[in-house]
Amino acid sequence: MALITQDITAAKAALLADDIIGLPTETVYGLAGNIYSEKAIHRIYEVKKRPAFNPLIVHLKSVHDLEQVAVEVPELAYQLAEKFWPGPLTLLLKKHSRVPDWITSGKPTVAVRVPNHPLALSLLNQLDFPLAAPSANPFSTISPTTAEHVKQYFDGDISLILDGGACQRGIESTIIGFEGDAPVLYRLGSLATEQLERYTGPLKTLTKNDTSPEAPGMLSKHYSPNTRLLLTNDLVSAVQRHKGIRIGLLTFGSIEKPGDVSYVECLSVLANVEDAAAELYAALHRLDKADLDLIIAERLPDTGLGRSINDRLERAAQF
Ligand code: TXA
Ligand code: MG
Repeated sequence: MALITQDITAAKAALLADDIIGLPTETVYGLAGNIYSEKAIHRIYEVKKRPAFNPLIVHLKSVHDLEQVAVEVPELAYQLAEKFWPGPLTLLLKKHSRVPDWITSGKPTVAVRVPNHPLALSLLNQLDFPLAAPSANPFSTISPTTAEHVKQYFDGDISLILDGGACQRGIESTIIGFEGDAPVLYRLGSLATEQLERYTGPLKTLTKNDTSPEAPGMLSKHYSPNTRLLLTNDLVSAVQRHKGIRIGLLTFGSIEKPGDVSYVECLSVLANVEDAAAELYAALHRLDKADLDLIIAERLPDTGLGRSINDRLERAAQF
């Protein structure tokens, strides 16, 4: 049975014993272990059922530790780190030889970020090693934004979940890599592209369904509920087309529940995109438990975090 607790000392003890824990961050909960512990990292892959080719993100306590894990860091990467860390930006950099291959799946690059969550940061400050932490969900399922979500997935597999409340941002970090010194957007996330582009200029984006080993985060099926999900610009006609089955709606702003619909989840009563991002996965978890035949989700305006939410919904809609 996994203990849900705010006890950082207990979390530290578990990590020092080569165990893995549920870790709160501002984006989603992670499944965290010491990057230098082969046993812990092996366990992360095992309980997550994650394919070995899919590398892990390294979480640091501060930008000052960057040189422990990365080499030949481009000037722009430092500028972005200074600007956005702690925060939901992951940088893909050339890895230091000290970083074990089991973190990077043998790749020459390492993904790094400093999480912006008080409990995660105070834990990291008490450790003399960084934490590897993929999102705390089994491969290709909906990511967790509460300690309870983590418990539902991994109760028998881990002994402790550090409870940091509901994640403020609610979707994963934005990932930026470099081709030479030129920045490339690998994954849309909690940091809006427009905000980054003020510092990077127009960002080259990896194509959506790129399944090359360079970009496993871009796998087309991801973040998926068990219930079939349809993404649409036109809720009314999508509902019309699916009469006679149990339909749940995922809407951006509030609407009046149509007669043919069993259940409605509204992401943000005021149609605020930050609030919608924070609610997205919790709403999908609830919809998936509502005994529905189909979830019909409304596409958001394709700017700012709306793009990141649409990206997740598109992947959730894949079979
Ligand atoms: O917000 C987040 O980033 C959360 C929290 C816990 O920090 N973590 C997270 O980890 O989303 P994960 O493992 O679910 O997603 C990280 C993505 C994966 O798709 C992985 O393939 C990609 O980052 N990645 C990690 N290291 C990489 C590398 N060296 N090269 C290419 N992709 C990498
Ligand atoms: Mg993930």
